[in-house]
Amino acid sequence: MFKVHAVAAHRLPQLLRAMPKAELHMHIEGSLEPELIFALAARNGVKLPYASVEALRSAYAFTNLQSFLDIYYAGASVLLHAQDFYDMAWAYLERAAADHVVHTEMFFDPQTHTERGVPMQAVIEGLHRACVDAQAKLGVSAQLILCFLRHLSEEAALETLEQALPFRDKFIGVGLDSSEVGHPPEKFKNVFAKAGALGLHRVAHAGEEGPPAYIWSALDVLGVERIDHGVQSIHDAALMKRLAAARVPLTVCPLSNQKLCVFPDLAQHNIGALLDAGLCVTINSDDPAYFGGYMNENFVQTFAATGLTAQQAYQLAANSFEASFISEAQRHHWMHELKVCFERFVEHDD
Ligand code: HPA
Ligand code: ZN
Repeated sequence: MFKVHAVAAHRLPQLLRAMPKAELHMHIEGSLEPELIFALAARNGVKLPYASVEALRSAYAFTNLQSFLDIYYAGASVLLHAQDFYDMAWAYLERAAADHVVHTEMFFDPQTHTERGVPMQAVIEGLHRACVDAQAKLGVSAQLILCFLRHLSEEAALETLEQALPFRDKFIGVGLDSSEVGHPPEKFKNVFAKAGALGLHRVAHAGEEGPPAYIWSALDVLGVERIDHGVQSIHDAALMKRLAAARVPLTVCPLSNQKLCVFPDLAQHNIGALLDAGLCVTINSDDPAYFGGYMNENFVQTFAATGLTAQQAYQLAANSFEASFISEAQRHHWMHELKVCFERFVEHDD
């Protein structure tokens, strides 16, 4: 294990910001800032039910997942053309690069758009072009994961996968998001089996608000490689043992959990307990435009509230590369860069 020297509390935020990291749980539609929502609405002639950027932002007071999703889907209604998807993704990728996110696997929700008559091609090509430019202009590797909306039917998910197949080379996996409770993973058994047979990676939201049973079925019925959120696993000792032993990654989103009232406040988040139990925990921003912060804000606020250490900062960044769908060569490269970053930081300690 790479031993990290103690770092003075006042210098920890600087280290958290500087360290290279991967983001594995971020819904690109959730990166749409109110300013861009209004700009795209004007460009596309879409009428919004909010009078101003300020009025929209002041509606961001959520009590649970559903109260957020209602506003999140309304915000996405301004996206019509490939260029809109490009502009949204590019704005996120620039912010990610500034936070030293060196690799990102971005979720997108095609059904939110195809249901409004937007062609699948416009969605995927716009997002993909931003991913290509991110590598060339920002040095950030960016990939796409297609999510199925779990409040809709499995039939609709199968149709969505079918529509996306002409663009199979432009996304690396499938995920499952939207309203969790009442829509267990097993509802999507067939579409995940099909995605697996196509060689796509599989992930699913489970145990955000839903019970540990949803995490078991995401693993055993859907065959997922990562669990998105997964914080409710803490209530099931046998599940915790399994997740730790198999190093199943949990893509945890602390500011999201705070804003959607999954925990009463950030200080009571269970991320420390999950790390202590040996789970492959990562930190992510989920829907940064709605939840009050991008990657570095999630790291800095979580460490300040819970008292995580520099050793745990290293662990979280290392976990993000372990959990990424990158090549072994890339993983090796970023683990080296991570160590160099920590060594330099200690050398310059005062
Ligand atoms: N949970 C479920 N669905 C979502 C989320 C989330 O946190 N963000 C965007 N869609
Ligand atoms: Zn999410």
